[in-house]
Amino acid sequence: MLNTKLITVVALQITLNLVRSTVFNIRDYGAIGDGKTDDTRAILETIANCTVNGGVLYIPTESGGELSQLTIRDFVITSSVVPKSLDKFAIYAEDLVRSQIQHLIINSNDSKNFPVPGGIAMVGVADTNTVRDVLMWEIKGTGIEIGHGSEIRILGGRIVGANVRFDQSIGIHCTGNNGGVHLQNTDVIALGTGMLIENSSGAGSNREIFIAHATIDSNGRGLVIRDNSYVSIIGIWAASSTIDQIFIDVNTTAILSISGGTIFNGGVYECPNNSNWCNGLTVNSGTFILNGVEVRNNKGRGIWIPNISVTQYQIIGCRIFANGQGLNVTGSSFIITNNVCNSNQLPNVISGKESSIVHSNLGC
Ligand SMILES: *[C@@H]1O[C@H](CO)[C@@H](O)[C@H](O)[C@H]1NC(C)=O
Ligand SMILES: *[C@@H]1O[C@H](CO)[C@@H](O)[C@H](O)[C@H]1NC(C)=O
Ligand SMILES: *[C@@H]1O[C@H](CO)[C@@H](O)[C@H](O)[C@H]1NC(C)=O
Ligand SMILES: *[C@@H]1O[C@H](CO)[C@@H](O)[C@H](O)[C@H]1NC(C)=O
Ligand SMILES: *[C@@H]1O[C@H](CO)[C@@H](O)[C@H](O)[C@H]1NC(C)=O
Ligand SMILES: *[C@@H]1O[C@H](CO)[C@@H](O)[C@H](O)[C@H]1NC(C)=O
Ligand SMILES: *[C@@H]1O[C@H](CO)[C@@H](O)[C@H](O)[C@H]1NC(C)=O
Repeated sequence: MLNTKLITVVALQITLNLVRSTVFNIRDYGAIGDGKTDDTRAILETIANCTVNGGVLYIPTESGGELSQLTIRDFVITSSVVPKSLDKFAIYAEDLVRSQIQHLIINSNDSKNFPVPGGIAMVGVADTNTVRDVLMWEIKGTGIEIGHGSEIRILGGRIVGANVRFDQSIGIHCTGNNGGVHLQNTDVIALGTGMLIENSSGAGSNREIFIAHATIDSNGRGLVIRDNSYVSIIGIWAASSTIDQIFIDVNTTAILSISGGTIFNGGVYECPNNSNWCNGLTVNSGTFILNGVEVRNNKGRGIWIPNISVTQYQIIGCRIFANGQGLNVTGSSFIITNNVCNSNQLPNVISGKESSIVHSNLGC
């Protein structure tokens, strides 16, 4: 339902284009969209006509504005009948603010021929939008794309890819200049990349990303950070992805903080090359704190820091257990204390100890 009483249509584009490309414009059904007129009837009629054979529900933009206080809830959006290019989304919104998208199922009735491209794109200002309990199945494009702006909450729900692990699919993509992205209790499973934080199409880094008790599982790579974001995680479950469970690229000043949870089973499905794949946490730049985390059963390295530029990191009170190799770390001015590193296959490698504190560990 569109809660039209709350719509002040100034500028917005929402596209439900999974079935046919016929466009159903609410204005053709009598919607005024001046923020005063109650357009409920017109919009309901547009939806009714749109859903007969499928199509695009289009709420047109006027230049320079934004759409505020929109609620979209209790829908199933199904891909069928025609194939779509992977850059399409079930819901595509520009300049959507203070809005809620809840209780949707986004799927395909024939995922072989008509896979789901993307789920939800919020490409513009996102001044507190909430996505709650949205289930997406067999995503081949991007599950949720978050553009510039601030305050997005993704609460609950599940984003599942096509289980290829090496396709171009992305569960959640923060494209840049984004402050305050909250991900809570959401599952992100079986995609090429689980969550991608980068600065490719936005202006400036993503800023604060908060992840609490999310499941990032069975992807090609789990959480990938390629910009200068601050990423705060509590209770991570990052598991069973092939290349890395958590990865920070070179040339960032990223700050990652992880408290509690587990990083495990890297490469469990396949591990063609455990000299650089199948790792738990791989950090190439920036810094991090890992506190009270279990890093276990990764076929490659539990924690791999190949780059001397990584500095002032801390690994404290973790259990680094039964990996191909527990620690293979370099860098400077780091602290590794109070960890247990038993039952790893290869011996640990810790270089850069001169400027660092490494003590009170068992087996590290
Ligand atoms: C919308 O569908 C109704 C029947 O459900 C039909 O009477 C009406 O003509 C349709 N409107 C348009 C603009 O196609
Ligand atoms: C999927 O839905 C379309 C449109 O309703 C229908 O024509 C098609 O037969 C369905 N396909 C399957 C495999 O159920
Ligand atoms: C992000 O993009 C902006 C604009 O292109 C650029 O100025 C900035 O340096 C980029 N930041 C990073 C970390 O790549
Ligand atoms: C280390 O990172 C720098 C930039 O951050 C990069 O130029 C260099 O290639 C990296 N070295 C290794 C061994 O990864
Ligand atoms: C990292 O930075 C170095 C030096 O500035 C540059 O040569 C290299 O191409 C960069 N690497 C990437 C992957 O951006
Ligand atoms: C495995 O990775 C290492 C290091 O990157 C590389 O030298 C080697 O060629 C790779 N082997 C295979 C089989 O891909
Ligand atoms: C540790 O990692 C480095 C690359 O950072 C690699 O050259 C070295 O072989 C690794 N050591 C072991 C014992 O695997």
